[in-house]
Formats: sequence, structure tokens, C-alpha cells
Amino acid sequence: MTETSQTVLVERHGAIRIVRLNRPDKKNAITRAMYIAMERALAEAEADDTVRVHVVLGRPGAFSAGNDIADFLAFAEGGQMGAEVFCLLDRVARLEKPLVSGVDGLAIGIGTTLNLHCDLTFATPAAVFRTPFVDLGLVPEAASSLLAPALMGHQRAFAMLAMGETLSAEQAREAGLVYRIVAAEALEARVLEAAEALAAKPAQALALTKRLLKGDRQAVLDRIALEADHFAERLQSHEARAAFKAFMGRKR
Ligand code: COA
Repeated sequence: MTETSQTVLVERHGAIRIVRLNRPDKKNAITRAMYIAMERALAEAEADDTVRVHVVLGRPGAFSAGNDIADFLAFAEGGQMGAEVFCLLDRVARLEKPLVSGVDGLAIGIGTTLNLHCDLTFATPAAVFRTPFVDLGLVPEAASSLLAPALMGHQRAFAMLAMGETLSAEQAREAGLVYRIVAAEALEARVLEAAEALAAKPAQALALTKRLLKGDRQAVLDRIALEADHFAERLQSHEARAAFKAFMGRKR
């Protein structure tokens, strides 16, 4: 196992590369350094012919609570919006190798939208998917404004992305965001089993099939960029600043 930083662990299982979010004290909220580590790990694995499948996992109880809100607040208060998250999203949207995820517990913000780019998502019965972008004064990211309506239809995507409605594991499965619901104790084994099955397939045929199924990649990249423009603008808004401050100050 290599540690790109303590908060993102990168592991190798045969032809499978696992990126494991590991910031349990903050429910796996993702910092700028974590985006950089994730992007680097995926880029390395994508360029390595001996890696056939990418896997993303979180921690028990928290796949990810989304972008670190302290980082959001720093941007909102005059810092430059970092490019890290968009570098990761760009990388994920360009992956040729399959991406499999395993979700237990919280999947908030990018913890949900990342799964729109996965080829298979396994979730436990305790998984909850939520994208409170509007409540935070923000807009959807990760091309979710394009991918979610295509996947689940406008109204369910609207309920999730605009109303911030929480989807249970079962609702996420019905909406097409989750492939299978599995017991928490079996999550990692089921993810690895699927990844191993994919790793045993003819790699080029699999990559072409993924590409065909994913459709218009440029449209996805363009949407990531368009959303990013709005997102950066929204981060500076009064609505967003007030929401971030309320979150950071809620325990005082
Ligand atoms: N950014 C920064 N810190 C976060 C975080 C986030 N997105 N999500 C959780 N944390 C931190 C909390 O501040 C807390 O830190 P502390 O112990 O130093 O106070 C710790 O993680 C545990 O979270 P807590 O809120 O105490 O746990 P909970 O079980 O009561 O609630 C959540 C968990 C995820 C529901 C709640 O923390 C939350 O709503 N987080 C924000 C999610 C969000 O809006 N993400 C952005 C989406 S765009």
C-alpha cells in the first residue's frame, strides 16, 4: 500500500488500483490536497498497462461528506477557486478503464456526483445520497446537471439536485445511480469481485465498450467546465458565504 497522503490511500490488488478516501474524523470531506492525490492516483493507474480497473472506496459510514466546507469558505472569502476538483473531474470523465465504487453511509455532494461517472456502484443499505448544492448557494458540479437527468429523468434529478432530496440506497438503485445493494460487511469483497471480473476481460474491447456506452465525452467535459464557471461565481455569493459560515459555526 502506498500513501499519497494520509487522507487518500492507494492500494494495489493484482490488476486493480484502489483509491481509498481516509479522513474519517471529517466524514471523508475532500480537501484540495485529497483531490490532487486522487487525480494523481487515477492518472498513474490509467497510464499503467498492468492496471485494468480503478476502484474508489470510502470508510465505513462515510463514502464522502463532499467538498470540505472550510475550503469552500476560504474561496468565498477571497481565496482563488482551486483547479484541483476540476482536474479530478476532468480525469474521471476521460477514464478509459472501468471505475467501480463502493459506498457505505454518507455520499454527499461530490460523494454522490462522482458515482455518476462510475461504471458500477455498489452500496450498502445504509448508504444515503444527497446533493445540497442549492441549499449551500451553489450549483451542481461534475456534469451532474447533464448526467443525472439523462440517468433518472428530469424530475428525479431535479428533486435530488435542486431540492436536495436525500436518496436512500434503494431509491438510488431504482434511479440507476447504484448497481447493487450489498451488506456492509460484504461491500469491499463484492466491489473487488466485480473489479476482478472486469480485469479478466479483453482490455481493449472493454475500453471501447465503456467509451461507446458513455457517449459524448466532449459534452460531459463541456458541462463540467460550464458548471465550474457558475460554481466559482456562486462561491463568492452572499448566499454561499452565509451557508458555509452557518455550517462551520453550527456547533458553537
Ligand atoms: N466539510 C468540512 N467538514 C465536514 C464536512 C464537510 N463537507 N462534513 C463533515 N465535516 C466535519 C464536521 O465539521 C465535523 O467536524 P468536527 O468534529 O471538527 O466538528 C466532523 O466532520 C463530523 O461531522 P458532524 O457534522 O459532527 O457529523 P454528523 O454525523 O452529525 O453529520 C454530515 C454528518 C455529513 C451530515 C454533516 O457533517 C454535514 O451536513 N456535512 C456537510 C455536508 C455538505 O454539505 N457537503 C458539501 C456538499 S457540496
